[in-house]
Amino acid sequence: MTDPRVDLSIAEGIARLTIRHADKLNALDAAMVDALLPLCRRIERSDAFVVILGGEGGKSFCAGGDIAAWSGWSPEDFGRHWVRDGHAAFDALARLAQPVIAVLDGHCLGGGLELAACADLRIAEAHVKIGQPETGLGIIPGWSGTQRAVRRFGPQVVRRMALMGEVFLADEALRLGLVDQVVPTGEGHAAALGVAERLGARSPRATELAKMMINAAEGEERERVIEALAGSIAAASTDLAEGLAAFREKRKPRFSARRDTE
Ligand code: COA
Repeated sequence: MTDPRVDLSIAEGIARLTIRHADKLNALDAAMVDALLPLCRRIERSDAFVVILGGEGGKSFCAGGDIAAWSGWSPEDFGRHWVRDGHAAFDALARLAQPVIAVLDGHCLGGGLELAACADLRIAEAHVKIGQPETGLGIIPGWSGTQRAVRRFGPQVVRRMALMGEVFLADEALRLGLVDQVVPTGEGHAAALGVAERLGARSPRATELAKMMINAAEGEERERVIEALAGSIAAASTDLAEGLAAFREKRKPRFSARRDTE
């Protein structure tokens, strides 16, 4: 499932995930959302140590879900496909092993805010506009804009956007913790590369583990993190080798009483 409007390039350890739908301010339709999930799998299996997420055009990071696309769904399919598929794709992005840096160069609205919330770091250009306009359209933020966004930004700031329709500009967004850094217009990608360079000097494995634990603490993926960490410890033990050998040789395993992994 590919879509040229969701573009992935990987070079020198940097994965660039770019929304290319500038004539609609990078609004996301169902095909674009579907394309996101396999690209996340590709990133995860690549040698990239960092992901830079952005939108093309310089006017809008992402103006949200494509209104023309979702307004045609039946109520059942809205929940079954539009919301569920969006969750699957955004969860995959938020749970990537690699740190994700989002460059917010302009509108970051609705689904755009939900997309940005999946990143580990948000760099805003000076003309950024951040908000959740959904209730003004008679719909709700459906790609974790009341869940992950609340966990990451706090409930009050989400109330101000989702209930009151407030749109935050760069300085206020920085003060509220919606973004981590504000840079002049046109300099977001250079700033992201600077962060990527710093990350490149650090251990990718330790960074991955730290990200997993922070996500777990935040309630992002607690079940998987617990099982992944325990699974890695079990897989490193001599008991696994013995268990597999016993299975192959059709005998009872002779597990060592030792508890370390030597
Ligand atoms: N879905 C579908 N199309 C969108 C869109 C969206 N979320 N956001 C912008 N577009 C389209 C516009 O319809 C327009 O298309 P057209 O040229 O075919 O008419 C094009 O992108 C450019 O947008 P335009 O409204 O002309 O730009 P603007 O600078 O005057 O206004 C916004 C920018 C972001 C304020 C305005 O486009 C807007 O309010 N968009 C909707 C944002 C939103 O509600 N997002 C949440 C959706 S759930």
